[in-house]
Amino acid sequence: MNNESVVGNYSLFDDNEIDNTIRPETIDEYIGQTDVKENIKVFIEAAKMRKEPLDHVLLYGPPGLGKTTLAFIIAHEMGTNIKTASGPSIEKSGDLAAILSSLEPGDVLFIDEIHRMPRYIEEILYPAMEDFSLDIIIGSEGNSRNIRIDLPPFTLVGATTRAGDLSSPLRDRFGIVSKLQFYTVSELESIIKRTARVLNVQIEDDAAFELAKRSRGTPRIANRLFKRVRDFALVKNNGIVNLDITLEALDRLKVDYLGLDNTDRELLLAIINKFNGGPVGVEAIASSIGEEVTTIEDVCEPYLLQIGLIKRTSRGRVATDKAYDLLGIDKKGSK
Ligand code: ADE
Repeated sequence: MNNESVVGNYSLFDDNEIDNTIRPETIDEYIGQTDVKENIKVFIEAAKMRKEPLDHVLLYGPPGLGKTTLAFIIAHEMGTNIKTASGPSIEKSGDLAAILSSLEPGDVLFIDEIHRMPRYIEEILYPAMEDFSLDIIIGSEGNSRNIRIDLPPFTLVGATTRAGDLSSPLRDRFGIVSKLQFYTVSELESIIKRTARVLNVQIEDDAAFELAKRSRGTPRIANRLFKRVRDFALVKNNGIVNLDITLEALDRLKVDYLGLDNTDRELLLAIINKFNGGPVGVEAIASSIGEEVTTIEDVCEPYLLQIGLIKRTSRGRVATDKAYDLLGIDKKGSK
């Protein structure tokens, strides 16, 4: 296990449901993301051969695809400690200065949601990333001076759902930039079976396949659904996860055969019924279903786009014919 410190009032358990027991520790245990994984393996090996820290890494992609898990794996494979923080929890320049000056040689500093760090704080990172130095101003106005503190060499691993929201000076300072993709059904099946093994739960192949199909390409969702199905299995089926109990649980959880939940269906229905199928702007959709714009953009839309239920046009979002079919709505009749 890595020696992990949490910096500020941020805990990985707040918004990341993967608990440490089911998080893979080594890169070989990490399933999927083959290209990213194979490249990172080479970069880690080369850094170790040079006895240098790994270059800074930016991981981006939709939530739940394993960015945090990869950051922990990087620290594990480099044989170093990891310190974690999140963009929104770094409110003052002093917060970041305190984090940076607590680093030990070779440490991994993981900053989740790095796009949510204020710009004026971001600027402190530039010399830290480039020259391992920290420029701080001491004293009060009229009597202040700049001092430069040397930092130990370290690796910043930044994670973001929105690479486009990073300023280009920050983005350019990451030597390794990797985009995580949605997982295939068979990768998710392997992840679910691995989680079942780790948690000592018996799961049948067809149940794992069904769960994988409904997990929206996302391990966090696969593990979350698995845990809920496990509850139904424990109470109603002697703890054995078979297809029947899986279908019953998924039905109760209102997760359909594509993995869509109530929010996704509400979103599609809003585009179709309230906005004539689109095009419609995301703000209008958000207020009509009472969700945040960022939830729609970062959580719901990437998967709906990927499976072809909506399209993004320059004038807004449009529901596709596939969405009408899925919801059983006659396209002509609804106009
Ligand atoms: N749990 C969550 N993501 C995983 C992954 N990519 N491989 C193995 N287990 C996981």
